[in-house]
Amino acid sequence: MAENLGDWKRSCYCGDVTGINIGSEVILMGWVQKRRDHGGLIFIDLRDREGLAQIVFNPAANELSHKNAHHIRAEFVLAIKGIVSKRPAGTENPALKTGELEILVKELKILNESETPPFLIDDETDVAEGVRLKYRYLDLRKPSLQKNLILRHKVCKITRDYLCERHFLEIETPILTKSTPEGARDYLVPSRLNPGHFFALPQSPQLFKQILMVSGFDRYFQIVRCFRDEDLRSDRQPEFTQIDAEMSFVDREDVMGLMQGLIAEIFKNVAGIELNLPFTRLAYADAVGRYGLDNPDTRFGLELKDITAIVKDSGFKVFADAAKKGGIVKALNAKACAEFSRKELDELTAVANSYGAKGLAWVKIAEEGWQSPIAKFLTDAEKDGITKILDAKTGDLVLFVADSPKIANTALGRVRLDLAKRLNLISTLTPDRTNRGHQSSAFSFVWVTDFPLLEYDEEEKRFVAVHHPFTAPLDEDIEKLDTSPLEARAKAYDLVLNGTEIGGGSIRIHRQDIQSMLFKRLGISEEDARQKFGFLLDALSFGAPPHGGIAFGLDRLAAIICGAESIRDVIAFPKTQKATCLMTDAPSPVDKKQLDELHLRLKMQQKEV
Ligand code: AMO
Ligand code: AMP
Repeated sequence: MAENLGDWKRSCYCGDVTGINIGSEVILMGWVQKRRDHGGLIFIDLRDREGLAQIVFNPAANELSHKNAHHIRAEFVLAIKGIVSKRPAGTENPALKTGELEILVKELKILNESETPPFLIDDETDVAEGVRLKYRYLDLRKPSLQKNLILRHKVCKITRDYLCERHFLEIETPILTKSTPEGARDYLVPSRLNPGHFFALPQSPQLFKQILMVSGFDRYFQIVRCFRDEDLRSDRQPEFTQIDAEMSFVDREDVMGLMQGLIAEIFKNVAGIELNLPFTRLAYADAVGRYGLDNPDTRFGLELKDITAIVKDSGFKVFADAAKKGGIVKALNAKACAEFSRKELDELTAVANSYGAKGLAWVKIAEEGWQSPIAKFLTDAEKDGITKILDAKTGDLVLFVADSPKIANTALGRVRLDLAKRLNLISTLTPDRTNRGHQSSAFSFVWVTDFPLLEYDEEEKRFVAVHHPFTAPLDEDIEKLDTSPLEARAKAYDLVLNGTEIGGGSIRIHRQDIQSMLFKRLGISEEDARQKFGFLLDALSFGAPPHGGIAFGLDRLAAIICGAESIRDVIAFPKTQKATCLMTDAPSPVDKKQLDELHLRLKMQQKEV
C-alpha cells in the first residue's frame, strides 16, 4: 500500500505553512498525529519537527485520496499536495501556531504505514520512563523532545560561532586513551593487540588540552564526549558532553570573563534572555558558610549562620560537645514556619540524617517563648544571641545541626534546599512559561572561586586534589603547601546556575617545581607520577606557557534552559540510572570468541552464546 516519493519535493515544513500565501500550493510530508472523520470531510493533523498542520480531505476535491484517507492511522507517513486556505470562521485553533490555516488536499501519497504505537505521541500523556526509553525513536517524536534537541543544537552552534570568532581552534582528542585524573572510575577498553593492557575512555580531555597549549595552539575548544563510571543521578550520565576550552597566557579573569560572555550569548540567542554581566562571585568559604554547599542555589535566601561561638559552652551537650571536638553549630531561620507539624519536622530531620547529621534540633518561636525540646538547656543569653544573629521573630522556626564543619554545612544546606521546595521559594519560570523580560531572575548564576587546593581523604589517609592535581595554587598561598596545606587555595572556579554546577576549570600549574611540590603533598611518588602522567610532565618541561581553561556540562546547561527535570531529556539516547540503554539493550554479553581475542576470561559463569 505504501507509495514512493516519485518526483514530489517537500515545499515547506508543516509547522511553517504560516509563512505561505493563502491560495498557494504546497507539498507537505510528515507523520499523522490524529485523524478525525466528520462525515464527508476527513481532517488530519500532520506533524513534523516544526509543528502541526491541519489537512482536509474532501471527496469533491479528490475522491480517491479521500477514500484512501479512511485507512490512515496514527503515525502513518504521508505526503500531500494541497492548497493553503484560511479555516472557516469559528473553526480556528488559537493553541496551534498554524491554527488559522488548513491545507485542502488535492493529492495524497501514503509513504509508509505504522504499527499502533505503544503510547500516544504527545506531551500530555504520562508514560513510564522505561517505556519511553525502550521506544526512544517514538518518544523523540514528541514536540517537547524535538524542541529540546533543537535547542541543544543551537547552543552548540552559538558556542562554535562565539569561540571561533575569538580565535579558538576546534581540535579533537583521543577517545581511546589513558586514565585521566578527574577522580571518577574509568571505563576501560581491552586492547586486543596488547594482551592485558587497557585503554581508558577519557573522563575529560584535560591532559590533551594542556598539551595542545604546550604545542602552541593557544586557544582550543571542543564539544566533546566524556565518560565517567560513577553513581548516576538526574544530572549525571555515564557519557556526557562538555564544552571544553583551554587558553594560553591568561589568568582567571580572562577565562571567566570570556566564558561568561559565551553563556550570555547562548541565553540571548536561544532563549531571548539578557543576563546581567559580570556574574556574581562567591569565595568557596562564603558559599559553604552561607549556603552550606559549594554549588549554592542563590535564587532564594534562607542563609545559614554559624552560632558556634554563642553555644560552645551551652548546657545542651550536643552543641557544646560538637564545638569542643572542633566541629561547628549551624542554624537557619525558616521564616514563618513555626506551624510546621511533627511530620514535617521529621521529614526535614530525615533529610539532615541522610547527609550524615545525627539530628536536626528545632525551635519554634511562639508568643509565649521558645517551644522546643532543647529550650530548657539554653540560657537567656544564648537565646538572645541566636535570636539576634538569625533575626528570629514570633512565628519563625529555627533549625540547627551540630557536627563536623563538612557534615553540619552539607546537612543544613540540603535542609535549606528541601525547605525552599516546600515553601515554593523557587521560581520555576522557564523561557516558554513566562513573558520575556521577567525571566532573568529565574536564572541565578554565581562563580564560586578560591576553592581549597587540597582536601584530606579520611579513607585513603592522604591529601587529594579538590579539582585535579594540575590546578595552580593562588600565588600568595604557595608557601602554605608546606606549612598548612588545607589552607592553600586554588586558582579554580566553578560556574553554578540555580544550584547546579554547570562548569568548572582552573589556571594550571605550568612550572615543574610547583608541580613536584604538589605531587609530594598528594603523596604521589615521582615514579607514580611518571607512570601516570609522565607524558604531561615531559611536555611541561619543554617550555609550557602559562595556561588555564574550563569545561561546561552541555547537558546540564541545555536542561536548565529547557526547564527539563533531567539531563536525559536533552540527550537523544540517554542511559538509565543503572547505566543501561533500554533501546539497544547495551551493555550486553559478548560471545566467547570475542573474549578470547581480547585475552579475557570472565569470573562469573559464562553461558555459551
Ligand atoms: P569537571 O569534572 O568539573 O571538570 O567537569 C566539567 C563539567 O562537566 C559536567 N559534568 C557532568 N555532566 C553530566 N554527567 C556527568 N557525569 C558529569 N560530570 C561532570 C559538570 C561539570 O561542571 N577537565 C576539567 C575542566 C577543566 O579543568 O578545564 C573537568 O572535567 O557540569
Ligand atoms: P536528643 O538529646 O538526642 O534527644 O536530641 C534532642 C534534639 O536534638 C533532637 O531534636 C535531635 O534531633 C537533635 N539533635 C541530636 N543530635 C544533633 C546534632 N548533632 N545536631 C543538631 N541537632 C541534633
